[in-house]
Amino acid sequence: MDQQKVDILISSSVWDPRPWVEGLSKSSWVGNVHVWPTEADLSNVEALFVWKPLADGVIDRLPNIKWISSLGAGVDHLMTDSQIPRHISITRIVDPFLARDMTNYVIMGLMMHQRSMLSHMKHQKSKIWERITYKPLKVGVMGLGALGRHLSEKLVSLGFEVFGYSRTRKTLDGVTCYDETNRNTFLSQTEVLVNLLPVTPQTTDILDASLFQKLTKGAFLINVARGNHLVENDLMEALDSEHLSGALLDVFRDEPLPINNLLWEHPKVTITPHVASVTTPSSAIALLLDNLKRLRGKEPLLHTVDIRKGY
Ligand code: NAP
Ligand code: GLV
Repeated sequence: MDQQKVDILISSSVWDPRPWVEGLSKSSWVGNVHVWPTEADLSNVEALFVWKPLADGVIDRLPNIKWISSLGAGVDHLMTDSQIPRHISITRIVDPFLARDMTNYVIMGLMMHQRSMLSHMKHQKSKIWERITYKPLKVGVMGLGALGRHLSEKLVSLGFEVFGYSRTRKTLDGVTCYDETNRNTFLSQTEVLVNLLPVTPQTTDILDASLFQKLTKGAFLINVARGNHLVENDLMEALDSEHLSGALLDVFRDEPLPINNLLWEHPKVTITPHVASVTTPSSAIALLLDNLKRLRGKEPLLHTVDIRKGY
């Protein structure tokens, strides 16, 4: 084995692995790039790149594994996987394109809601000229990490009143920031709630009936983080009772969303298939290669996950 080069295994059950293989293979730091499933000898593989979930038995085939990276921002698929030894470094993607695309998606959803765009589209079909008024909105962003922070700053520059919520209190220009000690104050002002939290034991099911009740009447939900944050029945009840006015959902407990899930047909729900922000391989590969050099140089890896916190 060339001592400088690192052998890599890619396990991607959702995305096409080819752009990753092609991009990584161009680097002189990279040796063999394998794609799971494979019968090849994987005993020299030191880095595993995963987009979710990891098949059973993968880690058993990697006696020399030193580093695992999620190919997305989220790491919930790795945190809950008991086959991963706790001493292995786990990193994730923090990337300007990922933040840009998430911000653009949320702004799209927010604008469509603020400007009643779905109603205008329905009216056009029946040639109805109805001028629907709109008002400024107060937006609450749950999660002020790489994505929530970028979004909040852009929303401020677009003229929205923005509230932010995170585990540790942040200071962000133009954003009123809250933490767990004053969560109710955050919620009681929020007219559009954007969820950008990671899934952890503390945040699972956080979007439930009691949280919805604390939001302003008529509030709108945008869930772009994970399906496990949302109690689906509680959302449908809050919509049916008209406490909430609508929801834009990109992520679900079960993906693909099962055909018989009632959310599909709910008149106040808009669904997209986990496309709010998809990692751009060419950009993320630069980060992976940077970390690969750090691995070789025995330097700390970038964007390491804190396993105790779970994100
Ligand atoms: P991040 O940088 O890890 O930020 C997480 C934020 O959540 C931090 O501000 C953190 O607080 C806060 N937080 C964590 N636990 C909390 C708790 N119990 N109470 C309050 N706040 C808490 O994550 P990110 O890169 O912004 O990504 C966020 C999530 O977006 C990902 O985990 C992923 O699930 C989702 N995502 C979805 C898509 C999509 O296409 N739908 C794409 C990319 C990402 P501190 O700052 O105090 O630590
Ligand atoms: C997508 O869901 C991500 O976590 O990057």
